[in-house]
Amino acid sequence: MEFRRLGKSGLKVSALSFGAWVTFGQQYGVDQALEIMTAAYDRGCNFFDNAEVYARGQAETVMGEALTKAGWRRDSYLVSSKVFGGSVENPSPIQRGLSRKHIYHACHQAIERLQSDYLDLFFCHRPDPEVPIEETVRAMTELIQRGDVLYWGTSEWSAQQLMEAYAVARQYNLIAPTMEQPEYNMFHRYRFEHEYARLYHEDTLGLGTTIWSPLASGLLTGKYNDGIPDDSRMNLPSYGWLKARLESETGQSQLAKVRELTVIAGELGTSMAKLALAWCLKNPRVSTVITGASRASQVEENFAALDVVPRLTDDVMAEIETILDNQHDHLYGANT
Ligand SMILES: NC(=O)c1ccc[n+]([C@@H]2O[C@H](COP(=O)([O-])OP(=O)(O)OC[C@H]3O[C@@H](n4cnc5c(N)ncnc54)[C@H](OP(=O)(O)O)[C@@H]3O)[C@@H](O)[C@H]2O)c1
Repeated sequence: MEFRRLGKSGLKVSALSFGAWVTFGQQYGVDQALEIMTAAYDRGCNFFDNAEVYARGQAETVMGEALTKAGWRRDSYLVSSKVFGGSVENPSPIQRGLSRKHIYHACHQAIERLQSDYLDLFFCHRPDPEVPIEETVRAMTELIQRGDVLYWGTSEWSAQQLMEAYAVARQYNLIAPTMEQPEYNMFHRYRFEHEYARLYHEDTLGLGTTIWSPLASGLLTGKYNDGIPDDSRMNLPSYGWLKARLESETGQSQLAKVRELTVIAGELGTSMAKLALAWCLKNPRVSTVITGASRASQVEENFAALDVVPRLTDDVMAEIETILDNQHDHLYGANT
């Protein structure tokens, strides 16, 4: 396993990590969670990602039980949560968002569900336009000072919102976010590659990144090249929107590109999934690629992606770029 610094912090996170969205509490319970997390941990994964909103807290409960059953040393892995959407059905206005009140409760409820004493990483899952950024930065700083959280970060905040958090932290001697959790994959690039560009420099935030959906929910594995397999997440009851996205004009054009990319993967002697993950890993701005998996065999395959990175020469990257043809989408306002 390769370990990368989380931005300008001193924390070393495994380049490949594992997240619980979709799967934990929905596709499987504690025993399967333990099996899949063990497959990741045994391959050097030191970061397990979660959120209060995943299966309304159930994903954290399942992960917490699995971690307790596993009995791994607590200093050998990182566990996260994210606050914003709430962990109850139909949350009231104080049970969601980024107010000091909800951040406080979300943190302590996640700690309890995860059967931990603290959270290593705690993310604001989305920006909250109804709460002053100063209140959120202050609430996160307090949690860190209490020892409840070690590093705080954001997810899908704009560069402007991140700069505001940084400015507030400097002005009031508070703690600035260490990391962002953005979507980043071959089809979703603009924010990560362009909008955040100056935030990576150490003279601003020195931002670390824990990127999500590196396989575009499985599209980039090539598993949809010949139709939708029965056991795909696209067939889960509340994921019809993923199927609709695949069937849309954009989805079909992406699928055509995946078919072409699958040929390149074959020429490199690897799989489409490993090629897509290696492409993310190749970007030095990525601190860790959060993978998802519905079975241990997928973890086994995905965690071998690091071996493929050296095969991504300039010529291969150029070939991929020609197929993707989306490096400058920002010029036209597109983001796919
Ligand atoms: N901050 C945010 O807003 C946000 C949003 C989304 C996700 N996340 C985080 O990022 C993590 C990863 O996101 P993601 O689950 O969307 O990642 P992904 O890697 O894009 O998709 C993972 C899914 O693809 C399929 N898959 C994975 N490896 C495969 C393989 N080798 N062969 C065939 N199919 C394979 C599996 O689904 P099936 O087998 O069911 O088809 C798996 O559950 C989440 O768990 C979560 O922690 C964060």
